[in-house]
Amino acid sequence: MKKKILIISGGVSKERLISLDTGLQVANELKKNGYKVKISEPNNNLKKNISQFKPAVIFNALHGQFGEDGYIQTILESFKIPYTHSGVIASSIAMDKEISKKIFISNNINTPKFIIYSYNKENLNLIREIDRKLKFPVVVKPINEGSSVNVYICTKKNIQKILNSMKNYKRVMIEEFIAGREIQVAIMGNKKLGAIELKPKRKFYDYQAKYNSKAKTEHIIPVDITKKKLEEVMNMALRAHKIIGCKGISRSDFKFYKNKFYILELNTQPGMTKLSLVPEIANYNGIKFIKLLEWIINDSSTKR
Ligand SMILES: Nc1ncnc2c1ncn2[C@@H]1O[C@H](COP(=O)(O)OP(=O)(O)O)[C@@H](O)[C@H]1O
Ligand SMILES: [Mg+2]
Repeated sequence: MKKKILIISGGVSKERLISLDTGLQVANELKKNGYKVKISEPNNNLKKNISQFKPAVIFNALHGQFGEDGYIQTILESFKIPYTHSGVIASSIAMDKEISKKIFISNNINTPKFIIYSYNKENLNLIREIDRKLKFPVVVKPINEGSSVNVYICTKKNIQKILNSMKNYKRVMIEEFIAGREIQVAIMGNKKLGAIELKPKRKFYDYQAKYNSKAKTEHIIPVDITKKKLEEVMNMALRAHKIIGCKGISRSDFKFYKNKFYILELNTQPGMTKLSLVPEIANYNGIKFIKLLEWIINDSSTKR
């Protein structure tokens, strides 16, 4: 008998639709391979669904706020049923770009310079501070969002307008802009799974470039860099994964400019549709989608 799997997807984050797609595709693949599967939203019905369906494993297919930041993981801990991916602390650290970058910096994992912009504080010398510490253009982004939601490349001319449009966040991150290539690395347990390069046709790897097939981002695998450089970026991702205390799969996003890698962030709940980046990296390295899902399921645990 194959394990009963309850997949949590949807939720309330800005990445709800992507999570629903991840959930559905994971469910279809598992069903095709003989698993009993139920999909649930992370709402009031979750507890009822669990007590009726009695899953052996809970597959977390959520992305973004509430699903990737330690909140749902805290609830999952209370059920005492093995669940997939990272636990409470690693999830909340990785989702917070400010805290995770501070951890990267203190561990010598190169990351773009940044400042934090607070809305409840006067920011009189902002332009001067940026000129001095970061230089324009800069990237303005939320501290705890994903999928490039509300990520903007800003010049001296439009930064104030962009910041004004983001007032519903308490604070945002302003980061040094790194030109160059975009490379992402997948980690599987304590192993380096592989890397992929993204070549967006758009100005950067924004929401459309990620999810709209018409935006035609090119996926390049294997990445055309030296073996030594590939090892270097994969080692950075593995160290980030370990230092944050991640479990299972993670995907770290990098920029590669003038022969130097910069980690942008680590994702503890990377997209898991059949065409998402981690499944693509796995497939290239000989791990079919179902085998990847089965590995994730077998890696699930009540302990972190
Ligand atoms: N400092 C930066 N320099 C250049 N491009 C960036 C920078 N930060 C983000 N980007 C672009 O925005 C995308 C999304 O940023 P990222 O920090 O990965 O946030 P998200 O969690 O939304 O994926 C990146 O993949 C990259 O294309
Ligand atoms: Mg990213």
